Amino acid sequence: MKSTTELFVRLQKLMPAGTQPRFRSASELMEWQRQEGLKRAEEVEKENRLSRAQKILGRSGICDLHRNCTFNSYQVGNDGQKQALSLAKSYAQNFGNGFASFVFSGGCGTGKNHLAAAVGNYLLQRGHSVLVVTVPDLMLRIRECYDGGKSEAALLDDLCRVDLLVLDEVGVQRETRGEWVLLNQIIDRRLAAMKPVGVLTNLNHQELTKTLGERVMDRLTMDGGIWVNFTWSSYRKNVTHLRVVK
Ligand SMILES: Nc1ncnc2c1ncn2[C@@H]1O[C@H](COP(=O)(O)OP(=O)(O)OP(=O)(O)O)[C@@H](O)[C@H]1O
Ligand SMILES: [Mg+2]
Repeated sequence: MKSTTELFVRLQKLMPAGTQPRFRSASELMEWQRQEGLKRAEEVEKENRLSRAQKILGRSGICDLHRNCTFNSYQVGNDGQKQALSLAKSYAQNFGNGFASFVFSGGCGTGKNHLAAAVGNYLLQRGHSVLVVTVPDLMLRIRECYDGGKSEAALLDDLCRVDLLVLDEVGVQRETRGEWVLLNQIIDRRLAAMKPVGVLTNLNHQELTKTLGERVMDRLTMDGGIWVNFTWSSYRKNVTHLRVVK
């Protein structure tokens, strides 16, 4: 087999006079090939990351309702919202340094999904894979696996592979042992693989501890994990609803 240098010399001889070669040596050509290979590998990896959520849920990682949520579109009307925005922003900006998780806890319509989606959209734009999924929806997927005679192992593997998994509506279906086992499994496996988890919940610290257990709660808040309380009233009340005129 001919060496790259020999091939390069032959190519130079074949070149019409006056042509300016793009590479002046075999090593330059090899370096260019290496760089192109790296670029392609990065593109493939990015495509894989983006298609991961599609494969798991048959939809993109962030549902349509929150697809356009950004940090900029989050309105700040009090100190709590200001702090929540700043914590969410710095969480997104520091993503990848360690594997800190986050918990957004608070009442309905306070913007937990909005800020989680803003984090998700920020990360998606930077090539990370993100999946925001409600626990009831996850339970449904698991049931579909059972009903289809399939093991849930592949689904759990996929859930553990996304860079950020946000579990929404944690605690909505209370007291179900199946949910507790599933959440424990997912959170445990992800944190063991050094992958963070986001939790969105209407439960307070005490109630969430009761639902998830102290072990999981410790793990969620360790290694720089953040807990943010959304204590203000619902943003939905600010939106003027259309009146139905009879
Ligand atoms: N501070 C805010 N600025 C702009 N929009 C907001 C703000 N807070 C909430 N919203 C909007 O209000 C709607 C409800 O917010 P969101 O879904 O994030 O609430 P939530 O805390 O997840 O509520 P729930 O507990 O009911 O799920 C969304 O459309 C969201 O974009
Ligand atoms: Mg919500």
